[in-house]
Amino acid sequence: MTPQTPDNEWIRQKLDTLTDYADELYNIHPDATNEIGPWAALKLFHLIVTVDLYTRIIHSTDGIEKKLYFDVLAGSGIVELENQDVNIYGSPIIAAVFPEYPFDELHFFEGQKERATALSDRLDYIADETPLDINRDSCYVHHGDANHTVPETIGNIIQESGYSGKNQLTFADHERMEIHWETMIALSRIWGDYLINFQYKGISRELGYLKSDNASEERTETAHRKLHRFVGGKQYRDCNSVDELRDLYKQQLATIGEEYDKPNNNRPVNKQIRVTGAGDRYSYDLIYATRETGNGSPYIQFMDNMRNRIERMSGDNVADIIDIMEGNATGLDEFIPDESEVKRDEDQSSLGDF
Ligand SMILES: C[S@@+](CC[C@H](N)C(=O)[O-])C[C@H]1O[C@@H](n2cnc3c(N)ncnc32)[C@H](O)[C@@H]1O
Repeated sequence: MTPQTPDNEWIRQKLDTLTDYADELYNIHPDATNEIGPWAALKLFHLIVTVDLYTRIIHSTDGIEKKLYFDVLAGSGIVELENQDVNIYGSPIIAAVFPEYPFDELHFFEGQKERATALSDRLDYIADETPLDINRDSCYVHHGDANHTVPETIGNIIQESGYSGKNQLTFADHERMEIHWETMIALSRIWGDYLINFQYKGISRELGYLKSDNASEERTETAHRKLHRFVGGKQYRDCNSVDELRDLYKQQLATIGEEYDKPNNNRPVNKQIRVTGAGDRYSYDLIYATRETGNGSPYIQFMDNMRNRIERMSGDNVADIIDIMEGNATGLDEFIPDESEVKRDEDQSSLGDF
C-alpha cells in the first residue's frame, strides 16, 4: 500500500467509529446540531475518503511541512439524519479524527454562535473523554461570518509563517451560496485543493428570481447581489441555466490564485459528482478542484470512480447510504469495484479502489 492509495481497510475501520460517540456528543448541546437528509450524508462519506487521500498524498510530498484544513461552513460537529434517529459526526470531526496522517492545523468557521460553541465543546469532549485520536491544540474554531473571518485568518497565517511549505484542503459545504468569491481568492493564497458543495437546486431557485415576473423587485435585487458575490462578478448575467452557472464557477476555479503565484496556483482540473435525491427535489454537485500532477491526478481517478457509483444510485439506495454512514461493511462494498473493474497501474498512484 503506497501512502498515495486510499486504504479501504483504514476507511472501513474509521466508518465503524462514525457513530460511536455521536450520541454523547449530541447530548452536550442537543439544540445545536445540523440536520440533513440521507442523500446529503453522501457528501460526508465523500469527505472521509477525500481527507484520507489528500493527507496521504501531502504527507509524502517533499517540501510540504504543514497540511492545513479549512472548513469554511463548519456547523456544530454533529449531524442528525432526518427522520432516521441517527446522529453522525459532522465535517470538522471527520477531518480532525479520521486521517491516518493528521492535518497540522484545522480551522473551522461557523457563523452561528451556538453551533461554534457546541463545536468547541465537542472537540474538547473528544480530546478529554473519548479514545478518538485528536490533537485538540491543532483545532481552531472561528466564530463569525466566514467572509470576514477566513480572509483574516489566512492573512494571519501568512504573516506569521509565510506561504512556503504549506498546502491546504478547503471544504465549502454551502446551503446556498454563502461563501463569496473574494473569500475563495483569500483561500487561494495558500496552495491547495477545494471540495465544494455546489447547491444545484438552491442556486436554481436564485437564478429563477432573475427571470420571474412574480418575484418582488427586492427579491430580484437580493438574487443579483448573492449571485454576483458568489461567482465574483457580473458574468452570471450571461448564464441561462444552473449548468451554465456551474461551468462559470468551475472556470473561475480554474484560474483562481493566478494573481498570487502565476501560473501554478490555479486549479485547472475540476471534477464534479451529481447527487440527486428525494425524487429530484434535492440535488447538489460535489466539485473537486485540483492541479494535475506529473503522472495524472489520483484525485481525478477517485472522482471518476465515485461518480460512477454515486450517480447510478437511486432513491431505493437511501438505506444503503445510512448503512455506509453507520459503518456497515456491506454498504461500503457498493463503492468498491469488482476485481475485473480494477485496473491497477503500479507505476501510477491509482485510486482504483474507489
Ligand atoms: C451545511 S451546514 C455545514 C455542515 C457541516 N459541514 C457538517 O458536516 O456538519 C452550513 C453551516 O454554515 C453556517 N453558515 C452559514 N453562513 C455562514 C457564514 N456566512 N459564515 C459562517 N458560517 C456560516 C451555518 O450556520 C451552518 O452551520
